[in-house]
Amino acid sequence: MIAIKNIDKFSFAAVPIDTFWNTGREKELKMHRIHAYPAKFPAFITTKALEYANKRNKKVRSVADVFCGCGTTAFEAKRNNIEFWGCDINPVATLIAKAKSRRYQKTRLEKYLKIILSDFKTRKIKDRYQTANERLKYWYRNDQYNQLAHLKDCILRKTPKNSDYRLFFLCAFSNILKGCSVWLTKSIKPQVDPIKVPADVKHSFEKQCHFMIVANDEVKVLGEALSEIVTGSFLDASTLAPKVDLIVTSPPYVTSYEYADLHQLSSMWLGMADDYKTLREGSIGSIYHDYNFKREWKRLNKTGNRIVSRLLDQHKSKAHSVAKYFLDMQRVAKKSYSMLNKNGMALFVIGNTEYKSVRIDNAKHLAESLLDAGFSQVLTTKRKISKKILTPYRDTRGKFSTDEKGRLVYCEEFIVIGKH
Ligand SMILES: C[S@@+](CC[C@H](N)C(=O)[O-])C[C@H]1O[C@@H](n2cnc3c(N)ncnc32)[C@H](O)[C@@H]1O
Repeated sequence: MIAIKNIDKFSFAAVPIDTFWNTGREKELKMHRIHAYPAKFPAFITTKALEYANKRNKKVRSVADVFCGCGTTAFEAKRNNIEFWGCDINPVATLIAKAKSRRYQKTRLEKYLKIILSDFKTRKIKDRYQTANERLKYWYRNDQYNQLAHLKDCILRKTPKNSDYRLFFLCAFSNILKGCSVWLTKSIKPQVDPIKVPADVKHSFEKQCHFMIVANDEVKVLGEALSEIVTGSFLDASTLAPKVDLIVTSPPYVTSYEYADLHQLSSMWLGMADDYKTLREGSIGSIYHDYNFKREWKRLNKTGNRIVSRLLDQHKSKAHSVAKYFLDMQRVAKKSYSMLNKNGMALFVIGNTEYKSVRIDNAKHLAESLLDAGFSQVLTTKRKISKKILTPYRDTRGKFSTDEKGRLVYCEEFIVIGKH
């Protein structure tokens, strides 16, 4: 870890890789893979953050993830029996995070699965396609739509209202939605694959549930410590974050993933929104925003100002999105500082990007924001992202690839730590 003394002169490009943060010691549990989620970080980041903080700090008793995504930190905190608080603006993320953080009895899972499947088989499937939400009709063929609607009814009919078990099966349902649609597989841009043969609904659900049952069985210990997972923007005044000893989080990337768009199938099927576009509001890093650039951009710190000024010459709307992102991240730094106990620590995993040869130095911007927010010391190190070493490009359809003609995705990212 290198302490940043003079932010103006500090070069993140020159930071050496610290192998401590590259890999974990144990194999990642299956529970971390029960639902696809973009930009999920490896579970060992939390374990290592706890190890790092415990060595240098008082014992960590509570941990938060202010962009908790699909609950990687939430689940690891539970495994370590440490109190957890997390929030995410994406309701699909918090559904998965909650599902992961609960303990289930294997026999009850098997019993519910059996009765859901038997209900699915014995009841007549109604034709509801004509009255379906137009957006869902766009993604589903008639058969798939009707079967999914039928399956959802069976889950709701056969599992107790508001129970952990209903959550478990709705999470399974959510994860099969893309496979059963014409959504281009593994694409991060919502687009139809005209030649795709959508997966069979019952088979996909059964397979998904079996995987999740095995994943649950693999979890030997899950502590009793409190775990609170909130759906909402971290920056909203109404999102009241408790005081914690440690924050472990990875902020969204700027203009990279539109989480509301990517999870539109789940959010519409699960009744989280009639129009998924409403869920874009408040999402940090989104290209959709409404703010007064002229008035606001004066609030950018030096790093932010320099990058946005260079981008303005290249691409105005991109510059506005990056400026909004930076302004939001400056507020994230302040709110993170205010929720830490004395001697607490905030650990951020963050990567840099590039646009039309303008380097978007997110790590430096964050480090400066943490210093401005009052953190007494800011440290950093670099880690390698193993998966992206093999497929370091994105093709025009948004899929990871080995083709050098694609857009280069960085194979490295930074760990930035702010000490209270
Ligand atoms: C890089 S992902 C976090 C992934 C997470 N570490 C995991 O392992 O699943 C960033 C998350 O920030 C969330 N996000 C974006 N804007 C937010 C906001 N204003 N408040 C809270 N969460 C937000 C996104 O929905 C996304 O889940």
